[in-house]
Amino acid sequence: MNCPKTDCQKTIEFRHACKTFCKKKIISDEDIRYILEAGRMAPSSFGMEGWKFLVITNQELKEKLRPLCWNQAQITTCSHLVVILAAIDALRPSSGIPQKRFARRRLPKEKEETYIKLYSEFLSEEITDDAKMFAWSSKQTYLAAMQMMLAAASIEIDSCPIEGFEREKVEELLEIDPKEYRVSLLLPFGYRIYPQSEHLRRDFEEVVEFIE
Ligand SMILES: Cc1cc2nc3c(=O)[nH]c(=O)nc-3n(C[C@H](O)[C@H](O)[C@H](O)COP(=O)(O)O)c2cc1C
Repeated sequence: MNCPKTDCQKTIEFRHACKTFCKKKIISDEDIRYILEAGRMAPSSFGMEGWKFLVITNQELKEKLRPLCWNQAQITTCSHLVVILAAIDALRPSSGIPQKRFARRRLPKEKEETYIKLYSEFLSEEITDDAKMFAWSSKQTYLAAMQMMLAAASIEIDSCPIEGFEREKVEELLEIDPKEYRVSLLLPFGYRIYPQSEHLRRDFEEVVEFIE
């Protein structure tokens, strides 16, 4: 491609794992909604949208969370801390929710029933316990997370995906019932205070293999 950088390339280059945010710069309501909307629009397996985004701005709560998150500075310096939850019970046919998700497609009854059957069979074969449900559900939340990080970068807002936290303790503090949801990923947003770190990446040829 021999043309000026696309907006998408610029956005990808702007995003980096920001380690410290400027505490004084607060994201506007309009901008955080733009970011969250990008997460809401993410794709999900069977269109189940098995996620919820908790948006924390309360500084006291962020201070309480920080020691449970490897004492990482992003937690307390960010403007908005998004806690991405992965659904557990809601994804099971017994909750009645998958049926509602399929019903909104307005498919012919027969096709809808085929989908529900396929979904139920997939779950009973592959997702045999809560741990497997979390693994499946959590994978999908990462797509929502990436979509939010890119949306943020497109308006020059920084982020950092955070997996370095003690899940049970964070869930306890946030009073999350692990049968209902598990904390999948923490995603702080804000504005960088230091220059962006270099993107260190493996070579294209090492990562990509074309099969013709
Ligand atoms: C699933 C996941 C978990 C991560 N957890 C942390 C974390 O706990 N703390 C942190 O500072 N960075 C975390 N990172 C950021 C990575 O370290 C970072 O993306 C990687 O080193 C590449 O740097 P870049 O994103 O700035 O290009 C995480 C990234 C991913 C994808």
